[in-house]
Amino acid sequence: MKIRFIYILAIACLSISITYADDENHEIIAKVMKEGLKGKTSPLAKTLSGIATDEEIAELSKLINTLKGTTAPIGDQAEYDQKIAALIKTAEIVANGDKSQPALDRFEEAANCKACHSAHKP
Ligand code: HEC
Repeated sequence: MKIRFIYILAIACLSISITYADDENHEIIAKVMKEGLKGKTSPLAKTLSGIATDEEIAELSKLINTLKGTTAPIGDQAEYDQKIAALIKTAEIVANGDKSQPALDRFEEAANCKACHSAHKP
């Protein structure tokens, strides 16, 4: 009787912590999407069109960095990790001062909404 209770308690705790981790993961990703990438006046759009200030680019890069360690809501985790790593890296290169067209093009490619969403957005 006691053992069964402990067992049920353990399962309950586990499922609560899994739900919590999912929420946190979603919140991190959603924040980056909404505050960094979404829309015509987003820090991403401004960076790519060359009108963002250095400060805005640095902030964007910092924000994108928070994606490190997030899990893919759906799809292959290794592929997701690769896309995130490319996004972080290409953003950092621009933030570190390389605002040449090829660097911006690579950042734009890594930030391709559809390519990532079609594989990893629920
Ligand atoms: C490297 C992957 C990746 C790239 C690139 C990406 N997204 Fe996302 N985006 C995601 C994932 C994953 C989700 C789903 C998050 C979830 O539901 O937990 C998402 C969700 C969103 C959401 C919904 C956020 C919410 O409130 O739930 C918006 C808006 C969004 N993305 C906009 C964009 C735009 C605009 C671009 C391109 C400029 C973009 N994303 C590029 C991975 C990406």
